[in-house]
Amino acid sequence: MIQKINPCAQSPLYLISKLLVLCLTVGVFVLPASAVAQINTVAETVGPKACADCHKLSVRAWKSSHHFKTFKALPRKSEAKAIAKKMGIKRMKKGSDCLTCHFTEKPHKNKTKVIAGISCESCHGAGKNWIDIHSDFGGQGIKAADESAEHKVERYANAEKAGMIRPSNIYNVAKNCYGCHTVPNEKLVNVGGHKSGSPIELVQWSQGEVRHNVWYSEVNNASPIERLRLMFIIGKALDLEYALRGIAKATEEQIYFTEMLSRQKSALTAVKAVAEVISNAEYSAIAAVVNDADIKINNKAVLLQAADKISAIAMGIAKKYNGSEFGGIDAMLPAADSYKGSVFTP
Ligand code: HEC
Ligand code: HEC
Ligand code: HEC
Ligand code: HEC
Repeated sequence: MIQKINPCAQSPLYLISKLLVLCLTVGVFVLPASAVAQINTVAETVGPKACADCHKLSVRAWKSSHHFKTFKALPRKSEAKAIAKKMGIKRMKKGSDCLTCHFTEKPHKNKTKVIAGISCESCHGAGKNWIDIHSDFGGQGIKAADESAEHKVERYANAEKAGMIRPSNIYNVAKNCYGCHTVPNEKLVNVGGHKSGSPIELVQWSQGEVRHNVWYSEVNNASPIERLRLMFIIGKALDLEYALRGIAKATEEQIYFTEMLSRQKSALTAVKAVAEVISNAEYSAIAAVVNDADIKINNKAVLLQAADKISAIAMGIAKKYNGSEFGGIDAMLPAADSYKGSVFTP
């Protein structure tokens, strides 16, 4: 999964065009962190046990989520077996189409092995090359409080270069959610009869069972309001971006296409509604990217270009603002009692 949605997995031409778009639309010359990061794949996956050494509470939070439970639960479900049968899949955990979204695979002897459901690295990037870097405050015995400011900047930059998807830019982490939850797989939906995507809303879906704000404070409070605002507006942009990526894969006018189309339409309406409230020129440019005439089957290149433009704008917004600017949106934020699943309490 990580490989598929990592922008670095694309051609150099794509990266150049993406940077150009970013510079033109945002008006600043910044290199998006992920543009310099290396490609992470199954080969770099270390598995959640390697994170558990230090992140015990995050692991406990994760263990009560569907992301963890799908590992054991999915292969036993009759609904899953029916999908697999229609797809001609014998074993869901063996080189199947289910792996990209339901499981974590890591190297094992000369092969790979499915070791977990959707886990830490599905969202934070495969860890082999950054796990040591991100937690090193400047040598043995040096604690967080003693780290120099320069070292911290360098550490974060180096971790990102080595493939860490840091939550500091919410766009970078959240694009993973949409990469799976829009279910961009035509055959799986049309032939397999798999759900054509989740009604995912980033605030609601990240602040319930997925929430693990347990490192800097052990209470697992919801993210601060400024952060929720940013999540809300970036989530809408991501929904639109990934609906376009989904439509780009459509080759026939069947249920996959019609459902992606309806996703794209409602995401566009939502983006416009947000744009109206926050009156931010960069954000308004997102809606302008979408051209009705392009929204059709077998139009991959054009649709991906539109999605890339939205990506560059949204990533730039997530980098430039911290949410304090968008107080106008508060009335639109979902209520805490609508968060998806139960929150882990340490
Ligand atoms: C040796 C201990 C250790 C291990 C193992 C470890 N971490 Fe960390 N992690 C830390 C420390 C220490 C910090 C705090 C860094 C800071 O404050 O900047 C941290 C912070 C983080 C952060 C948030 C920091 C940021 O950059 O914003 C994430 C996300 C994270 N770790 C994910 C992981 C994942 C995923 C794994 C497993 C692949 C992992 N960590 C393994 C020690 C560890
Ligand atoms: C492109 C990503 C993707 C792929 C590939 C994928 N799934 Fe899913 N699947 C999802 C998502 C996202 C959900 C959660 C939908 C929801 O409830 O919002 C899901 C939910 C399900 C569910 C219902 C949830 C449950 O546990 O009751 C079943 C059954 C299922 N998938 C089976 C499969 C099977 C079998 C395969 C392989 C043939 C597969 N999926 C491949 C993304 C995917
Ligand atoms: C479904 C995606 C997802 C999974 C799986 C996931 N994370 Fe995260 N993680 C996030 C997001 C999103 C944030 C930022 C949340 C926010 O700022 O509100 C985050 C934040 C963090 C932080 C910072 C916490 C803090 O107190 O600020 C750490 C540390 C972390 N994750 C470690 C892990 C570890 C370890 C695992 C595996 C046990 C894991 N994550 C699994 C998405 C995920
Ligand atoms: C690697 C693919 C993948 C990624 C990345 C991912 N998810 Fe999921 N998520 C799934 C699948 C598959 C399921 C369904 C699991 C099951 O029940 O079998 C699911 C289930 C969920 C559920 C439970 C849904 C329910 O019906 O109760 C929530 C909430 C959720 N995801 C939120 C998120 C958020 C928020 C992010 C990003 C921070 C995220 N997910 C990232 C694949 C993914």
